[in-house]
Amino acid sequence: MGARSRDLLRRSCLAVPGSSDRFIERALTIPADMVFLDLEDSVAPSEKLEARGRVARAIRSFDWGERVVCVRVNAWDTPLTLRDVIEVVTGAGPRLDEIMLPKVQRPDEVVALDLVLTQLEAELGLERGHIGIEAQIETTRGLINVEAIATASSRLETLVFGPADFSASMQLPVLTGGAAIPEYPGDHFHYVLSKILMAARTAGLQVIDGPFLRIHDLEGLKASALRSAMLGYDGKWALHPTQVDVLNDTYRPSQELFDRAVAILDAYEQATTSDRRGAVMFGDEMIDEASRKMAEKFALRGRRAGM
Ligand code: GLV
Ligand code: MG
Repeated sequence: MGARSRDLLRRSCLAVPGSSDRFIERALTIPADMVFLDLEDSVAPSEKLEARGRVARAIRSFDWGERVVCVRVNAWDTPLTLRDVIEVVTGAGPRLDEIMLPKVQRPDEVVALDLVLTQLEAELGLERGHIGIEAQIETTRGLINVEAIATASSRLETLVFGPADFSASMQLPVLTGGAAIPEYPGDHFHYVLSKILMAARTAGLQVIDGPFLRIHDLEGLKASALRSAMLGYDGKWALHPTQVDVLNDTYRPSQELFDRAVAILDAYEQATTSDRRGAVMFGDEMIDEASRKMAEKFALRGRRAGM
């Protein structure tokens, strides 16, 4: 499998409407870890067909650097999905890393996309598995089926929570998806975020939080991002370039935790050998193999973020 982007950083995932040349060109200058060009809800119905070609051309002709490059197609409950995928994959060339599938409700929706991508890769001379899949979990049915969805295809790279559509699907008493509900005693999305996280990690996938729609409220964004970052999420969507720095910062380990993780790994390595691994002291704390695993994941995340 050749998915280049599987383990790349996705702290900030910039959403860019596929109907606007100006927004697409601006995205090239924004330090987001990932960019996805949208054919779905940010594009007016009258512009959706034209957006396919614009998005494909942009991916083919611009230098996207190292960032993850993705296109969100329309969901399988529209008549658009199949031709979205065919036109984008055929026109974009090998720099397209992934297709994002919205409103995934059942695993067979991912299987269907996988089969189409397999045919297209064969036709276009791309390595099998070159194009990864991101699956958005944003309906109650999608959440109920999330474990089966997470293992539906070896192309899957991430599960993505969609708080706006999810709020509509749940009939939550809110009008701003992703924002806290002040009257609710706690985080009304805690269960949802946790369930998606567990399904994703069990399947070896990254897990991404969706948009925060009050784009000028950077403090609100930070608070919203911390809720998922402190559960272990890899990143979150940015709907506007000003949100990107906050996200890059929030989903990177703090220097203090990173340094401590590296020190734990060093201490554990020195105090044990591969056939004699057990509990050892690290300062006034006892560490063992589980501590090493925690530290290893954390150190890896920090190194990927350039620490
Ligand atoms: C994103 O697509 C959302 O619905 O929140
Ligand atoms: Mg949505």
